[in-house]
Amino acid sequence: RSLHVAVLVGSARPGSLNRSLARALTRLADAELSFTFCRIDDLPLFDQDRLAGGFPLPVARFFDEVQAADGLLIVTPEHNRSITALLKNALDWLSRPAGANAWTGKPVAIAGASAGRLGTVAAQQHLRAILGYLDMPTMGQPEAYLYLTPDLISPEGEIADETTQVFLEGYMRKFHRWVRQHVDGTAPADA
Ligand code: FNR
Repeated sequence: RSLHVAVLVGSARPGSLNRSLARALTRLADAELSFTFCRIDDLPLFDQDRLAGGFPLPVARFFDEVQAADGLLIVTPEHNRSITALLKNALDWLSRPAGANAWTGKPVAIAGASAGRLGTVAAQQHLRAILGYLDMPTMGQPEAYLYLTPDLISPEGEIADETTQVFLEGYMRKFHRWVRQHVDGTAPADA
């Protein structure tokens, strides 16, 4: 069967480089993968006391999207050497009860683009620690730290540079295999 992936982008601004990168990745993926970009900028700020009466409406919608996904693709900027508050808020909302929530066991891959040369490496190290705690099998390689100038990837996800394109194609082949492995224990032969 085909595989469904929920995409989280850690930036909500219209000109987001990371949204462009996420679009590029989804365009390069095998047709067996389908994608939903989850909206996370309308989730309220997390409040533990609001878990008791059921999720607020936008959180309930987000929960359903994550629950329905076979895997997750998270593409985030680095803000002050960590992940963005927007992304952390989304991760926190679905993180209870610990060890038995919407994240638990879902295969995930992470990537990030920055206007700086370190390409979100510090943010992704933090993110790996969080995803480990959430018990999500996180793809180890290839790592994707992109130093993006605005013209390298268009807002529609078209890539101007062939080396970058080949690298991201390889990343998505591995991601496909990663999700497939965790869903039914097999991998596509060419991955
Ligand atoms: C940044 N930026 C940034 N870049 C980086 O490589 N490391 C960092 O720690 C930070 N910190 C940071 C903090 C804040 C508050 C802002 C506004 C920006 C720059 C960042 O890479 C740049 O704004 C990207 O364009 C953000 O990604 P999106 O929104 O384009 O996807």
